[in-house]
Amino acid sequence: MSAQLIDGNALSKQLRAEVSARAAALRARGTTPGLAVILVGDNPASQVYVRNKVKACHDSGLHSVLEQYPATMSEAELLARIEALNADAAIHGILVQLPLPAHIDAHKVIETISPAKDVDGFHVASAGALVVGQPGFKPCTPYGCMKMLESIGCDPKGKHAVVIGRSNIVGKPMALMLLAASATVTVCHSATPDLGAMTRQADIVVAAVGKRNVLTAEMVKPGAVVIDVGMNRDDAGKLCGDVDFAGVSKVAGWITPVPGGVGPMTITMLLVNTIEAAERAAT
Ligand code: GUN
Repeated sequence: MSAQLIDGNALSKQLRAEVSARAAALRARGTTPGLAVILVGDNPASQVYVRNKVKACHDSGLHSVLEQYPATMSEAELLARIEALNADAAIHGILVQLPLPAHIDAHKVIETISPAKDVDGFHVASAGALVVGQPGFKPCTPYGCMKMLESIGCDPKGKHAVVIGRSNIVGKPMALMLLAASATVTVCHSATPDLGAMTRQADIVVAAVGKRNVLTAEMVKPGAVVIDVGMNRDDAGKLCGDVDFAGVSKVAGWITPVPGGVGPMTITMLLVNTIEAAERAAT
């Protein structure tokens, strides 16, 4: 392996220490930063995610409340809970874990969260702020990827960045953040005819598709920075990303591992957004 590892655990530890210090400063001024996490239904993966989010809050000195509801909860009941949390001065961030049961309109739910408390950055107002370069909450996963680039001294300015994937949660906001940082950005997706022809031109590749081996060694320019957002299982049931790590790490200059790469950064940036929300509310 020739690539250097971008260690998401180490970077998270450093950023979470900063969060803890900011949380302590807020508490000293009489404000305890608070996050509400809502889980509807019993999706096992979602249960693990929300537990980790609540634990991360606790570890960093943030107040958090976990509200769990049965899958039979009505959309109207959920919207009413969000309205109550919007009005609750002890809560600075509201996160509704996705996916939601099919009878609930996720878009309507996200739009009901006050943009001032939208620490996931999924509200149309947050997405719009990112498009026009106004302050707003950035979605946690691509925000974390930007922090990883910064941590290795990789300034996207003047670089060619290729984003694989166009989801609202990762691909699209990732492309916008790289563009704001003055990269030349190409967004590739399932209808891109020759993905390798695109990625071979890239100084930075972000893979965010949710499919194993989307990026292999012969698709990567030597020395490129490769960020792997994927969370998949290999044939042995082991956690793996979208990138063929064994092959690509022989060619890339930098690479994020899975696990221990982007994963821990997502929760870390949720804490950063929640602190930011509390600081804005306290001023
Ligand atoms: N489901 C998978 N990832 C996320 C996330 O980042 N936020 C929320 N709310 N739900 C998710």
